[in-house]
Amino acid sequence: MGIPIKIAGIGFKVPDSVITNDDLTKILDTSDEWIRTRTGIEKRHVLSGNETAVEMGIEAAKNALLKSNIDVNSIDYIIAAASLGTHVYPSTACEIQSAIGAVNAVCFDITAACSGFIYAIGIARSFIKSGEAKNVLIVATEGLSRCMDWTDRASCVLFGDGAGAMVLTVSDDTQDDILAIDLKSEGNLGNFIKMPTPGKNCPLVEPNDEPKMFVTMNGKEVYKYVVTKLPSYIENCVSKSGLKMSEIDYLVPHQANMRIIEALEQRLDFDPKNVISNIQNYANTSAASIPIALTEAISQGKMKLPCTAILTGFGAGMTVGTTVVRLREGIA
Ligand code: ACO
Repeated sequence: MGIPIKIAGIGFKVPDSVITNDDLTKILDTSDEWIRTRTGIEKRHVLSGNETAVEMGIEAAKNALLKSNIDVNSIDYIIAAASLGTHVYPSTACEIQSAIGAVNAVCFDITAACSGFIYAIGIARSFIKSGEAKNVLIVATEGLSRCMDWTDRASCVLFGDGAGAMVLTVSDDTQDDILAIDLKSEGNLGNFIKMPTPGKNCPLVEPNDEPKMFVTMNGKEVYKYVVTKLPSYIENCVSKSGLKMSEIDYLVPHQANMRIIEALEQRLDFDPKNVISNIQNYANTSAASIPIALTEAISQGKMKLPCTAILTGFGAGMTVGTTVVRLREGIA
């Protein structure tokens, strides 16, 4: 229904600095064994010095645009999913616009935590299907290492920094690459994962308790929620796509925890070799984790194109997003 959409290009960028689990034992009471066995994570890339999430986003965007063969002047919208860009405003999307010269784009950011990339696909899809836009650039870029309490071993070991991007355009044939999308929000579960914004009251009124801008998480509740709810949400999205689960080649889940990924794999009866995971090298890069995993798996030949795939993410809010896609040759 509506105008068919093509996924034209994808790309990613991670910072050069790498922190291993052993490195973390220098500042935390933890161990490589604890982190690896509970999460599957071995190392993570993090921003260093004055590097920014916006700079990573710019590089990821350029890589995706290069693959898409779409002229930067033809980009109608830039949607950035970023927990924390360089500034609250200008938006991350506007900063990326300026750096890549996408002068005709309308730019804005969305906040949906780790589901941000899939939410952005949902928005871009509506714009293209309705004829409002022809070409949309999505950039998910996350510098969560700057929002960690580096004394809280229960949260800081889980995250890393990185950026991923995707270009969507009007299909030049009848094939629609976005077969289905399913987004969910459960604001009543907002306490599971939180990152407050800081801010001081006006000195003429009673002072407030200024919160620290750290991520806090109830890991057990997040885990329970995801393994209980996500499989049926994914099944629902697959059934909307008109395909059977057995007709889908790959599962590309949000890279939050290896145990969650394995639980999804078992529940959905996916062959482990068709479930894409790179959490060991990057940890949880929030909204960027799906495009990073997707681009890397295609570049490394772990995903053979053309193919069908489920992309599924979940995160603070709680938010959940799943899409069933067709991926053509040459996109990464
Ligand atoms: N190193 C060593 N010990 C640790 C560490 C650590 N890094 N972190 C916690 N521990 C200890 C705890 O203090 C606790 O010790 P205690 O028993 O003496 O009190 C023990 O390990 C067990 O802690 P739990 O929190 O019960 O560990 P659990 O088995 O639940 O694993 C984990 C924790 C890995 C966080 C898991 O709950 C999980 O992955 N949950 C899902 C998180 C997730 O997916 N988040 C994604 C969303 S993030 C987003 O959207 C921004």
